[in-house]
Amino acid sequence: MITIVIAEAALETVPPELLSHPSVKKLAERKGKLPEETLLDISYHYAAMKDLRDWDRRGRPDITYITLLNLLERPLNKEGLLKVYVHTIGNFVIDISPEINLPKNYSRFLGLVEQLFQTGNVPPRGKPLMVLKKGRLEDVVKNVGHTKVVFLTEKGKAAKSSYFRGLVDGGGSPMFVIGGFQRGEFSRDNLSLADDKVSVYSKPLDAWIVASMVAHEVERALKIIQ
Ligand SMILES: C[S@@+](CC[C@H](N)C(=O)[O-])C[C@H]1O[C@@H](n2cnc3c(N)ncnc32)[C@H](O)[C@@H]1O
Repeated sequence: MITIVIAEAALETVPPELLSHPSVKKLAERKGKLPEETLLDISYHYAAMKDLRDWDRRGRPDITYITLLNLLERPLNKEGLLKVYVHTIGNFVIDISPEINLPKNYSRFLGLVEQLFQTGNVPPRGKPLMVLKKGRLEDVVKNVGHTKVVFLTEKGKAAKSSYFRGLVDGGGSPMFVIGGFQRGEFSRDNLSLADDKVSVYSKPLDAWIVASMVAHEVERALKIIQ
């Protein structure tokens, strides 16, 4: 089994200090929700977010959405060999069922995640497809079985295909950690969880491109694809 964690993801509900900002109230009204039931989104809340700590690493639910779409539709998941978690900047962990059929419509995805932050489960009854719990990245590393923790970062050592083959040869079950944020590096505490730090290209790439590249390397290493 291969685990991929989208970490420090820029996915959170609107923080208390922004709840009364006009841009937040306006979007909430349009959605027919209370401001605290809506997700922070820099496309709509830029004016409100300017003074927020780490504003340029927050309010990008689209990064998690596109990365999940890219991962869950891959052969690796169809073969039952992939498990994905999302760890958020506010220290929540979302357990994603490999069986989830993510909506292809972004607004519907936002609606599901807003429901998830309210209820902790999506769907609220029956077999859960997404479960949200308070937790740190360290908890995921501690509680999910793996043979090695590999952080993906443009500052890591360049990894060739042979590196990925080495990780899965003999039944290895690596855990890959990819940043779900738009700027900067993982926190120092989180980076200290890494056994290896590797890059797949010399310049920064979007998280979903890196996720696809990693999954592709693993699929080839496991001979799922040629
Ligand atoms: C958009 S990047 C984060 C911001 C990026 N560090 C920057 O300052 O522009 C999202 C994530 O993709 C992964 N990533 C981006 N470029 C990479 C590369 N060249 N090699 C390996 N991982 C990369 C890292 O996990 C990173 O946290």
